[in-house]
Amino acid sequence: MSQEGIVISVSGKGGVGKSTVTALLLKVMVDAGKSSILAVDADPDSNLADILGVKAHKTVAMVASKLKQDIAAGRFPPDFSKRDYFETKIFEILCEEAGFDLLVMGRGEGEGCYCAVNDLLTSILDTLSKNYSVTIMDMEAGLEHLSRRTDRDVDVMIVVVDRSRLGYLTAKRIKELAREVHIDFKRILAVGNNVEPEFEETVRKRVVEAGLEFAGFIPSDPNIASYDLEGKSLLELSGDSPAVKAAKEIAEKLGLI
Ligand SMILES: Nc1ncnc2c1ncn2[C@@H]1O[C@H](COP(=O)(O)OP(=O)(O)OP(=O)(O)O)[C@@H](O)[C@H]1O
Ligand SMILES: [Mg+2]
Repeated sequence: MSQEGIVISVSGKGGVGKSTVTALLLKVMVDAGKSSILAVDADPDSNLADILGVKAHKTVAMVASKLKQDIAAGRFPPDFSKRDYFETKIFEILCEEAGFDLLVMGRGEGEGCYCAVNDLLTSILDTLSKNYSVTIMDMEAGLEHLSRRTDRDVDVMIVVVDRSRLGYLTAKRIKELAREVHIDFKRILAVGNNVEPEFEETVRKRVVEAGLEFAGFIPSDPNIASYDLEGKSLLELSGDSPAVKAAKEIAEKLGLI
């Protein structure tokens, strides 16, 4: 049955652990048997599919590019609106995995293409997410997604921070910029990733002072490092792995499981 779902976006500075945190939250939801989950790899330099061990052959960018070619060649079906056509195609390229679906955004070719893809995706994401109980999006690094308004329909913004000053400043800026561009997240939370125990208190204090809720820490986990090296899916991590345990606590706190 169609159900209007919650949309979560995972953002933060480059390399801070956005894709890892997205994969871990997805894993604990799948393991908990949560039904109808959509994961979106919204980073044009995508690697979420890779760390989930999913072979995604088609991307939103490819669909948009084909649409552009078809329109230019006069092959576009006259009884179809661009949006309807795009939406139909997006459903066709969803990767159906055990416990979740995955949509990969990919990179548009040529000047302006990325924005066109992005606009179309944003406009259908609203419709698409209503078919899932949870949509979780791994965003590109930085703040661009806010100005492009990819986050328009996001309910919960999770900003991943490490102990770096830049990590924290990005989190602060995401909160401020959201207000400036009139994006009203219901909740904006920080997850501390890879923070050494001696810095945890300072990191927590800083993000709370910046007006973000604090969701918890995900420790540096040697299993993540070795899975990364070996190219194994993070979905296969053991439930005893420190990062998985921490992600479970965070997901419980957010009411996701
Ligand atoms: N908690 C952790 N324990 C061990 N390794 C980690 C942890 N979090 C992230 N890493 C490693 O750090 C690197 C960067 O993580 P990740 O790719 O998730 O960051 P990102 O914010 O998505 O990066 P980008 O900005 O490039 O998208 C990866 O090699 C990942 O395996
Ligand atoms: Mg990433």
